Amino acid sequence: MDLWIGTSWKMNKTLDQARDWTRDVLAALAPGGTLADLPEHIHPFVIPSFTATALVHGLLGEDSRMALGVQNAHWEDAGAWTGEVSVPQAKDAGARIVEIGHSERREHFGETVETTALKVRAALRHGLTPLLCVGEPDAVKAAGESAAYIVEQAEGALAGLDEAELSRVLIAYEPIWAIGESGRPARMEELVEPFAALATRYPNQLRGLLYGGSVNLDNARDILSVPHVSGLFVGRTAWNSAGYIELLRLAAGAQEDSAASID
Ligand code: PGA
Repeated sequence: MDLWIGTSWKMNKTLDQARDWTRDVLAALAPGGTLADLPEHIHPFVIPSFTATALVHGLLGEDSRMALGVQNAHWEDAGAWTGEVSVPQAKDAGARIVEIGHSERREHFGETVETTALKVRAALRHGLTPLLCVGEPDAVKAAGESAAYIVEQAEGALAGLDEAELSRVLIAYEPIWAIGESGRPARMEELVEPFAALATRYPNQLRGLLYGGSVNLDNARDILSVPHVSGLFVGRTAWNSAGYIELLRLAAGAQEDSAASID
């Protein structure tokens, strides 16, 4: 099974810090590095701030093993949209992934189901991979409605896509109560129903279903063993290169574990 292991840096890192992180990870992936034998089914990706996109792309090079993304993009290709960046601009800077609908953007920047739908279409139109984030607040979880809530977010953003388009979409389930400094790591049993609900709604139709929210070196492997989880989307733990490299190593090991248990 393909595993997507990526990080968004959110609003962090100077150009020097971006360069250091990228060089460290590239060195690990290079022949002789600790990740030189990273299995083919592991897909690493990094989503820097816009200011570092072109720099990181330059370091990674064309056709890099590591895919590059942006944290947001506008749905129009160009025009009078002060402060925004378009999908063609992101693509020009080397991006292959467009993150869409992170809860921080929904909460602070007016992202709606309608705008996520427009942005998913814009990414697909230009051949980029949409990484759609869905996730419920605490109150919805307390009401026992997590699965219905995130399926509705996904259905809104993906409405009207055909099979070929759906097969290019990544979804990251990121419960708001688990994200960031004030979040708490999820217990594995809390992830079972949300992932089952997404997998049932889109049976083998999507490119992958990732988990994000307080992923760390202690819980990463367990999360990857939850049914239907095919990746990790990580903030704080991956902001230092050693943490990210270790997550990739754990992901490679997780697959070996499940192969061993099948034997
Ligand atoms: P975190 O962030 O890993 O720092 O909790 C996750 C996210 O917002 O994607």
